Amino acid sequence: MRGYLRIVVGSAIILAVQAAGAADHLGHFEVPATATYVGSQDCAMCHEDIVAFYQHSAHSPERGLGVAGSGVYGCEACHGPASGHVEGGGDGWIVTGAVLRGLSGDQRAAMCTQCHVSMDLHYADSPHAGTGISCADCHGDQVHYGSKTRPAADFRNRSEFCLQCHSAVVADFRLPFRHRVLEGHLACADCHDHHRGPDPAAWDGVNQTCLGCHPQMAGPFVFEHSAVSGEECLSCHRPHGSHHDKLLNQDGNGLCLQCHFEVTFRAADGWGDWGRFSHEGLLAGEARCYDCHRDVHGSNVSPTFWDR
Ligand code: HEC
Ligand code: HEC
Ligand code: HEC
Ligand code: HEC
Ligand code: HEC
Ligand code: HEC
Ligand code: HEC
Ligand code: HEC
Ligand code: HEC
Ligand code: HEC
Repeated sequence: MRGYLRIVVGSAIILAVQAAGAADHLGHFEVPATATYVGSQDCAMCHEDIVAFYQHSAHSPERGLGVAGSGVYGCEACHGPASGHVEGGGDGWIVTGAVLRGLSGDQRAAMCTQCHVSMDLHYADSPHAGTGISCADCHGDQVHYGSKTRPAADFRNRSEFCLQCHSAVVADFRLPFRHRVLEGHLACADCHDHHRGPDPAAWDGVNQTCLGCHPQMAGPFVFEHSAVSGEECLSCHRPHGSHHDKLLNQDGNGLCLQCHFEVTFRAADGWGDWGRFSHEGLLAGEARCYDCHRDVHGSNVSPTFWDR
């Protein structure tokens, strides 16, 4: 499914020239001209603990996972060609931990995306790009160095994992009307793609997301409501949770009057042309706009969204 190259450990051809993919990450460093790739099996002799960590992950050195289109694999994909370091018994050139710790979050992501090529495409638009949070902060169980979180597998559902850092949004999901995320009916990732930014081909990212689960709101309708078709679901709904039924962002007529203030004008005051139909008397008491204009997402029978 992805553009990975697997090389059997021990049979890799050692390349002196870095392949284009690897240069994305190693291009940050001055690699000595004489340094060559030696393979992860050599590291095991002296860095037993780290190699042992990987033994239990998808990145196990035995699997010889490499950067596609290069002779670079395993430890050296991140730490660079280690011939000098190995020959020097640990003294020669290598990209050290201290140097890697100095990289920005996005530069660290490039370390991973040299192999996880498909994640590179839109990662720069993803919600975490530029925040200092990088791949390994969420995937500490897959890489041998520190992480800011407990891994996703430790939690009962996928959302609790995100809430480790996003505790501020928990309150939204405890409101009386809400998407039942804490209960595990749907997950943060159903609406937020934490690996990618919004699809640039989609005409409207948010509506597209909502309509994935609520397709009946898209019509097609003979009479479209431009509040729905031309604006966003979010002009009337809160995405996480709300104090108001149906996740509405306001109760009562204020919801519609954000845009339709014309209906409150009175013909008697000479504003008759604004509202084409006088609502005088109709808005008294508890009457809500959508008690009469019921098919507010669109209708096949009525241009004013009556259902009768
Ligand atoms: C002959 C033993 C030996 C071999 C083989 C070896 N190393 Fe090392 N390595 C050392 C020693 C000794 C140090 C310095 C002490 C330390 O910090 O652990 C070191 C340090 C390092 C560091 C820097 C640690 C820091 O402080 O930031 C990295 C990264 C590293 N090795 C990676 C590798 C990789 C990748 C391989 C395989 C390609 C490898 N080593 C092979 C002995 C070895
Ligand atoms: C995906 C990239 C990546 C791979 C693959 C990788 N490392 Fe590292 N390594 C790092 C980073 C980043 C650090 C810096 C640690 C930090 O940020 O806390 C590091 C740190 C180290 C250190 C310094 C000790 C420390 O904890 O700071 C050693 C030694 C080391 N790596 C050896 C290895 C060996 C051996 C392998 C292969 C079995 C390997 N690394 C595979 C990215 C990687
Ligand atoms: C040298 C290439 C390479 C590098 C560098 C690399 N990966 Fe991977 N990674 C792979 C391959 C290939 C797989 C798929 C293994 C398989 O087929 O099961 C994988 C699998 C994974 C998985 C899925 C694990 C699972 O259980 O399904 C995660 C998560 C992951 N990598 C995260 C990372 C992160 C985070 C980094 C950077 C810190 C990174 N990888 C760096 C090659 C790499
Ligand atoms: C904000 C947290 C977060 C960040 C940042 C993140 N991931 Fe993930 N990733 C996840 C979660 C959660 C899953 C799903 C894991 C599960 O269900 O067990 C996942 C799944 C994966 C998988 C498994 C295969 C797949 O497609 O679902 C791979 C590979 C992966 N991530 C690689 C990466 C790489 C590479 C980066 C950086 C470019 C990255 N991730 C950044 C949280 C994150
Ligand atoms: C390691 C901590 C951490 C984890 C885990 C994490 N995030 Fe974040 N996230 C952040 C930080 C820091 C920011 C940027 C500051 C902010 O807006 O809160 C951010 C930003 C975001 C934003 C953009 C917010 C905005 O204002 O536009 C979204 C959406 C988001 N994260 C969703 C998720 C989802 C979904 C998950 C679970 C897959 C997740 N995050 C896991 C730390 C994390
Ligand atoms: C039903 C879809 C949906 C679900 C489920 C969802 N979100 Fe959101 N979230 C959104 C939308 C849409 C926005 C954008 C609001 C805006 O643009 O005004 C948003 C905004 C955010 C923000 C930006 C700050 C804010 O409060 O507006 C963060 C952070 C965030 N979500 C995190 C999460 C986390 C963490 C989860 C899971 C616990 C989650 N979301 C579940 C749709 C969703
Ligand atoms: C992954 C599927 C999914 C996505 C995406 C989704 N929803 Fe929902 N929605 C549901 C489910 C399931 C319910 C039923 C309540 C529950 O179990 O959380 C629901 C209920 C609702 C309700 C009715 C609540 C009630 O009180 O009856 C509204 C309104 C709603 N969603 C609006 C939205 C909007 C707006 C978006 C986009 C920001 C969205 N949904 C995205 C699955 C989804
Ligand atoms: C102009 C305001 C408005 C916009 C825009 C809007 N809605 Fe609604 N929506 C409402 C109102 C009002 C209700 C409650 C109707 C009722 O209670 O009779 C509702 C109810 C719902 C319900 C619950 C339906 C049910 O039968 O219980 C869902 C689901 C929903 N909307 C999804 C969406 C989605 C998805 C979008 C974007 C494509 C959207 N809405 C855009 C006003 C709006
Ligand atoms: C985000 C702005 C917005 C919101 C909020 C909104 N509308 Fe609209 N609505 C429009 C626009 C724009 C039109 C098209 C106006 C036109 O063609 O004259 C429209 C058209 C209508 C029409 C048909 C008017 C006609 O002349 O045929 C009705 C009825 C209507 N809306 C009712 C509602 C109701 C009820 C609500 C509250 C649930 C609501 N609208 C909320 C923007 C909005
Ligand atoms: C008691 C029923 C009722 C209520 C409540 C009601 N309307 Fe109407 N509305 C009508 C009738 C009847 C018409 C005449 C046109 C038709 O639908 O045949 C109309 C027409 C409209 C029109 C199109 C004509 C124009 O003036 O532009 C809009 C827009 C509209 N209403 C918006 C609203 C809004 C916004 C609210 C809430 C503040 C609301 N309506 C409350 C019955 C109602």
